[in-house]
Amino acid sequence: MTVVYQTLFGKIVHQDSLDYMRESIADESTDLIFTSPPFGLVRKKDYGNVAAHVYVEWFREFGLEFKRILKDSGSLVIDIGGSWIPGQPTRSLYHFELLIMLCRELGFHLAQEFYWLNPARLPSPAEWVTIRRVRVKDAIDPVWWLSKTPWPRANNRRVLAPYSDSMKALLKNGYKAKARPSGHDISENFSIDNGASIPPNLLVFPNTESNSGYQRYCKENKLKVHPARFPSQLPEFFIRMLTDTGDNVLDPFGGSCVTGEVCERLVRNWTCCEIVDEYVKGAIGRFAGVEPGQTRRADPQQYKISNPASRWNGTGSENPKRLPKDGGQRRAQGKTKPAKGK
Ligand SMILES: C[S@@+](CC[C@H](N)C(=O)[O-])C[C@H]1O[C@@H](n2cnc3c(N)ncnc32)[C@H](O)[C@@H]1O
Repeated sequence: MTVVYQTLFGKIVHQDSLDYMRESIADESTDLIFTSPPFGLVRKKDYGNVAAHVYVEWFREFGLEFKRILKDSGSLVIDIGGSWIPGQPTRSLYHFELLIMLCRELGFHLAQEFYWLNPARLPSPAEWVTIRRVRVKDAIDPVWWLSKTPWPRANNRRVLAPYSDSMKALLKNGYKAKARPSGHDISENFSIDNGASIPPNLLVFPNTESNSGYQRYCKENKLKVHPARFPSQLPEFFIRMLTDTGDNVLDPFGGSCVTGEVCERLVRNWTCCEIVDEYVKGAIGRFAGVEPGQTRRADPQQYKISNPASRWNGTGSENPKRLPKDGGQRRAQGKTKPAKGK
């Protein structure tokens, strides 16, 4: 094992995490595994992606180790983006197959599925989305929350969201208890002001970090900034809801060690394991020279999601064309790749 950096609460390990877990992590010792593994891609990126069609096989060995090291009360949370079938506008099923394998073969329970919406994601793949216009932009990652038993430790009071304007108005003006058309009987309790609302399983966090201490450190030290970082709010949501201070958190595909940075601030013991030397060196920049426990929290932002079909009334002149008979199989005449930035 190579521990390359140690902080008050955690460590960065430069090693294949499968070997690290086998050699160094005891059975039933971990409260939370939070991770974003290399996604299964049809085109290889440069951070160790595995082809979608062999992904589940590749992941099985990791899944077995995750099961062994988790406590019965623990959780495994996997942020996993989808991918497209090469050459056609349809999706790979690999991330669903992964979920089925982990539950059906390895015995994990699906505690809940979450979806992380990154409103800042660029429209892609350009060919289907911006050129042929036959798909919409792919802006969510599924996040599978799995557990060893049906009863992982959790508390949603740790992740409450501000009330929406309509809920605030309702609390102010009062609510008449009655049955909803859906059949739900809304009681008087609905109008009690609890100070905040229970969030849904759609998590909206923009991935827009542009001038962080981590990025400046990489630049100053001529290191490559990790190309697939998640925003700190994503691990923070699950670390807060699923662990207490002093609990043990592992990110086996640590990348730039966002998980470690959040754990350090929230006083959880953490280990980030990363196989690529340059990413490990960059990850150190999240902690070097930073006072223990003093990493900055991302500013909370509110997002309003527009009704996506509200721009067109179905008959107007804005969109007179008929749907393409061939489903977009051929590019429309005169359609070329858009200029950069369009
Ligand atoms: C999607 S990235 C994680 C990014 C990270 N969540 C962040 O925000 O910086 C996946 C990482 O897993 C690393 N990786 C792939 N296979 C690994 C292995 N067997 N052991 C440790 N790290 C691995 C890759 O090098 C890559 O940096």
